[in-house]
Amino acid sequence: GEQTLVNRTVGKLVSLREELKHKPLSGTLGIGHTRWATHGRPSEENAHPHTAGPVTVVHNGIVENHLSLRASLEARGHVFTSETDTEIFSHCIREKLDAGLDLTAAVRSILNDIEGSYAIAVISSTEPDKIVVAKNASPLVIGLGDGETFLASDIPALLHHTRDFIYLHEQEMAVVTADGVELSTIDGEVFERAPKHITWTPSQAEKGGYKHFMLKEIHEQPRAMVDTLRGRISLETGDVHLEDVTLDDARVKAIDRIYLCACGTAWHAGLVGKRFIEQWARIPVEVDLASEFRYRDPLVTENSLFIAVSQSGETADTLAALKEAKRRGARVLSVCNVMESSIARESDDIVYTHAGPEIGVASTKAFMTQMLALNLVALFLGRRRGTATAGAVTHALSQLSQLPGLVEHILTDSTDVERIARKYVAARDFLYLGRGENYPIALEGAVKLKEISYIHAEGYAAGEMKHGPIALIDEDMPVVVISPQGSHYDKTSSNLQEVMARQGRVIGVATEGDSDL
Ligand code: BG6
Repeated sequence: GEQTLVNRTVGKLVSLREELKHKPLSGTLGIGHTRWATHGRPSEENAHPHTAGPVTVVHNGIVENHLSLRASLEARGHVFTSETDTEIFSHCIREKLDAGLDLTAAVRSILNDIEGSYAIAVISSTEPDKIVVAKNASPLVIGLGDGETFLASDIPALLHHTRDFIYLHEQEMAVVTADGVELSTIDGEVFERAPKHITWTPSQAEKGGYKHFMLKEIHEQPRAMVDTLRGRISLETGDVHLEDVTLDDARVKAIDRIYLCACGTAWHAGLVGKRFIEQWARIPVEVDLASEFRYRDPLVTENSLFIAVSQSGETADTLAALKEAKRRGARVLSVCNVMESSIARESDDIVYTHAGPEIGVASTKAFMTQMLALNLVALFLGRRRGTATAGAVTHALSQLSQLPGLVEHILTDSTDVERIARKYVAARDFLYLGRGENYPIALEGAVKLKEISYIHAEGYAAGEMKHGPIALIDEDMPVVVISPQGSHYDKTSSNLQEVMARQGRVIGVATEGDSDL
């Protein structure tokens, strides 16, 4: 048969591009992979693809039982050349080919032995006209081009080539040839699925003239907020319409507790959302880190509503927490930014944040629209439970509809922010303080500084600072005090005085025009 040409390098993609200038690859089909090292250090022999005999594989995910599988394969004479869990796939599949199965059957037969998450693409020099893929918990989309077919982990990678996508769901496979795609479950049941037309333009998935994605996405917030509100608020009737929520009024009235789960920045959005929901719907809300919820034997009943908040809709801990809540009888509503993502598909109800693709790892526009969406959910539930009057909701909605313009206004001038950043660039530790709904915002600010500037930072409830971190405050530790006009203003100002009394350097976040703070 044909032969498979492989080229792998360590480091950034540009080094592979350089390599390919000297040793170009040519062929009618191919697979590629950029590796986020989970098993085995970043090195060429650990880079994908991994080959065993005629079989070549790339894999996204984690094979939980790779050690036992590796031991039994080595006992049967297979020689491994990497430290990765991925290499398991190439040896297992090869073994099935040697036993006489064709490539599709070989891939299908090994998947039941695999525990963990995978999106794999497999080729073999014995059948050089096809790529066999399979998915479980790691995302995989199929792009339908004109006389060509594409595979990727995410949509932006393919938007230059096509806008028509077929999404693979859990435990599904596809065989891609020049003639198109054949879909099947890993148990062998063949099925059809209509492609979805995605309206994202390629430019949306590019930087649009900004220095990096995060800056672009910060400036997309007004548009993302407008898109998240569009078609969902009615000031005349003082009500909220959530198109993908089928919770009927009886079910809404029966809810006696809400569990809200997320990770990272999405969890901070959840902490803010709790306040909205308790204020408007008068239902107790427990906010959990998804990784904690899964293992704390939560008292979920069929009268519980479980709300998952997730930008990607693929975060493993959040997906697992959702499945645990569902198993215990809860109704599941998700706030998600990616259509057809695993979390969206597992949910009974969905409120999409129409933030557009968020490429930056640190969440910005998604965070803002998550809080907005949770506010809409709170108003929606409040109206159906009779705890929020039409008049009060109309007033709240008219304020919400002004938010995008206010964000736009704030974003027009970042000179103050840049001046302050330069002043404190050498700081080694930051403290962020906030009260009430600004306490989660303080937590979020600290996470952002850690994630982006690699400066240690801690978010704290302003009223709690005296019981601990105040001991650390001196002229070397900048303290961000979030204190807009509002019910907590006076108390937060006194916390600010405590900081000043210890020569702390205060960076105030205040309502425009507040000269006192
Ligand atoms: C973290 C990201 O890894 O995952 C955060 O750095 C994000 O920005 C968190 O909030 C949760 O991700 P998601 O996609 O579930 O919102």
